[in-house]
Amino acid sequence: MVALPDFSTAFYTRNAQRYAEVSHSFLQSMYVRSSHPGLRGDYDLMQRMQDLVPEGARGLDAGCGAGARDVFMYMHRGYDIYGVDVVEENVEEACRLHPEIAGKVSLADLRFPLPLPDASFDFILCNAVIQHIIPEVALGITLPDFARLLDRGGVLQLMFKIGKGITTVHDKDYGVDRAFQLYPEDQVIAVLERLNLTLVPTEANNLGGIMYFTDPKGSDHCVLFAKKNS
Ligand SMILES: C[S@@+](CC[C@H](N)C(=O)[O-])C[C@H]1O[C@@H](n2cnc3c(N)ncnc32)[C@H](O)[C@@H]1O
Repeated sequence: MVALPDFSTAFYTRNAQRYAEVSHSFLQSMYVRSSHPGLRGDYDLMQRMQDLVPEGARGLDAGCGAGARDVFMYMHRGYDIYGVDVVEENVEEACRLHPEIAGKVSLADLRFPLPLPDASFDFILCNAVIQHIIPEVALGITLPDFARLLDRGGVLQLMFKIGKGITTVHDKDYGVDRAFQLYPEDQVIAVLERLNLTLVPTEANNLGGIMYFTDPKGSDHCVLFAKKNS
């Protein structure tokens, strides 16, 4: 196997428990600036996805994070959701915090295609994960695999840090510097279009189109919903 660069996943190994506390408290999940009046934090994205896919839909939280907060929340709202993460401690923390999702979270590395059949899911969440993966792999393997795994009409929610190259950010909640891969949004959108995924537009005041926000650490992100064409 080829050794691939690692953008600070070791951080999660060391901080799984604390990360889960921060994530569950929504401490870093409120945005300080946003391009859409209806987008104030993670919670708004969750609400919008629940408008786009019906209760009972099959979901994947790709890179679910320590504690798998969103797997837990979607499950309690009636979704058939699973989570994967590359860090063992993150999955263990999810099972410790929420024993009821123990059978729904597992270890997997999104730098490789997941060993699951085509069209396994009606929605995929991938929030702040490709920042840990080099562009060649994220755009050439991870996103194409999401397109394969989505059923027709299925929706991808993709959030990533915008820019070029790699940035280093000081995370005051943990007192450490962390490195992240940035992505130009036009490049990501062009890849999604080639994969037959179309941006969900803004309708009325609903979340849609290309949305931007700045997180409490000052990092600029893009987030979008893209639907797999029938
Ligand atoms: C910033 S956290 C985001 C967690 C969660 N998606 C959220 O929004 O709270 C990034 C997560 O991506 C996971 N991750 C990084 N590289 C990965 C990979 N190659 N495969 C699967 N998960 C990965 C990390 O372990 C970490 O849990």
